[in-house]
Amino acid sequence: MARGFYVTTPIYYISGDPHIGHAYTTIVADVLARTAREGGLAHFLTGTDEHGQKVADAAAAAGKSPQEWCDELVPRWKELFALYHVEYDDFIRTTEPRHERVVQAVFEKMRAAGDVYLGKYEGWYCVEDETFWPESKLIEGKCPTCGRKVDWLSEDDWFFRLSKYTDRLKQHFREHPEWVRPRAVYNEMVALLEEGLDDLSISRTNFTWGIPVPEGAGVIYVWFDALLNYISALGWPDGANLRTFWPAGVQLIGKEIARFHTLIWPAMLWSIGEAAPDLVYAHGWITVEGQKMGKSLGNAVDPFLLAERFGADALRYFLLREAPFGSDFSYSEEKIVQRYNSDLGNDLGNLLRRSLAMLEQYRNGLVPQAATGAIAERFAELGVRVRGFIFQLQFRDALEAIWELVTALNQTIEERKPWVLYKEGRSAELDALLYELCEGLRWLAILLAPFMPERARAMWQQLGVEEPIDTSWDDAVRWGGIAAGTQTAPGEALFPRLELVR
Ligand code: MSP
Repeated sequence: MARGFYVTTPIYYISGDPHIGHAYTTIVADVLARTAREGGLAHFLTGTDEHGQKVADAAAAAGKSPQEWCDELVPRWKELFALYHVEYDDFIRTTEPRHERVVQAVFEKMRAAGDVYLGKYEGWYCVEDETFWPESKLIEGKCPTCGRKVDWLSEDDWFFRLSKYTDRLKQHFREHPEWVRPRAVYNEMVALLEEGLDDLSISRTNFTWGIPVPEGAGVIYVWFDALLNYISALGWPDGANLRTFWPAGVQLIGKEIARFHTLIWPAMLWSIGEAAPDLVYAHGWITVEGQKMGKSLGNAVDPFLLAERFGADALRYFLLREAPFGSDFSYSEEKIVQRYNSDLGNDLGNLLRRSLAMLEQYRNGLVPQAATGAIAERFAELGVRVRGFIFQLQFRDALEAIWELVTALNQTIEERKPWVLYKEGRSAELDALLYELCEGLRWLAILLAPFMPERARAMWQQLGVEEPIDTSWDDAVRWGGIAAGTQTAPGEALFPRLELVR
């Protein structure tokens, strides 16, 4: 069987409520998964990272046991993803037995093979990032990633023989120059490799909220535990899904966790005889006044409120359209309102409204019969182009390409002036134009479905066409799909105008 397309997001620390940054990566994964499903087998995994000191501290501060705390919060995360129309195939929690079993089995397998050994860890630890730091890496005595205080640790710990994999990692980076993207992150990781890698402490004894070390003291380090979610969810070592979906097609992450996913993760996989993922894509941050948006900085934006205000699909559109994927982009409500009113309200929403209103007025809402026109020819390759951009993770380019069709349809109305054609009784020309508008809108609904699934469905309904549930994209984006005689059903505005409230 052909290999399925597997896309993953990081599993999120459940140290509090989710913010829009968490929704971001998951929405991107959803766009990829929805597109991949059109052409074949796809599997999309997200979930929650529930062990570790950070989560335990958050639970303690709330006066709850860590397990209680996680159980209460997980539904909130699932609610968020549902609100944003995210359709994952699996949601993994690291406190589930199916995951804990795998983590312990991997640990034992590595220990038996000599890749895990007992040693002494002396150094610093950042709870915020759940990261061990040697003295030499600290910046003014603080965590080099988040700038927070670090704690001194001195314990007997289990170590993973990461250093052993340095040469293989170097070779892998050399032979697969595209396996980590964007390029800046690839280069940064190669530079770290050049500095050399130390073995990694993978257990903690001064602390208990984690998966117990099998036949040993302490708990397994939260990152060692968390990374394995990507294969525990597939049923490692012998689940059918593992053979269908591993190695992953794309692992999406934020750039702050690239080191874990591109240096430690492949070495762990190789140690147990599995392949590295095809691609790790480390995207940029949503920032507020130049700072990464996050709970701890107190600048996080509530995604539940945003969906209420702008609509989930409009937010999905904004997140993928505003900046090239990979770069940071600064969050601002003005920008959302602007994109909403201009791209969505004026360009797309009005196109649907005007087209269906004219069809109603001139042809009783029935799609006329017509031959292929200029738009059909000009956009014959659009479906292929858009899909190509999506799989290259160039979401902005994909949306811009789709907007070329939106613009062309709006222009053709202005140029061919249907109201004049009607007045002058130029019936064949009017039919041709109205058909082009309906068919063009049908294409738009198909192409936009991965980005704005709910609004795309509203377009379908107004066009009076059934959703192409079993149709592959290639078939659907072919001219002539809307049948003459289809009864359209104009409805509410797709994107009612918004005013900026300050
Ligand atoms: N639990 C670890 C990941 C383990 S994966 C095996 C973790 N969790 S996290 O809750 O901090 O979430 C990190 C991810 O959330 C980022 O890598 C990114 O995908 C997303 N984002 C969190 N804040 C974000 C922004 N401000 N902007 C963009 N993405 C953001 O790290």
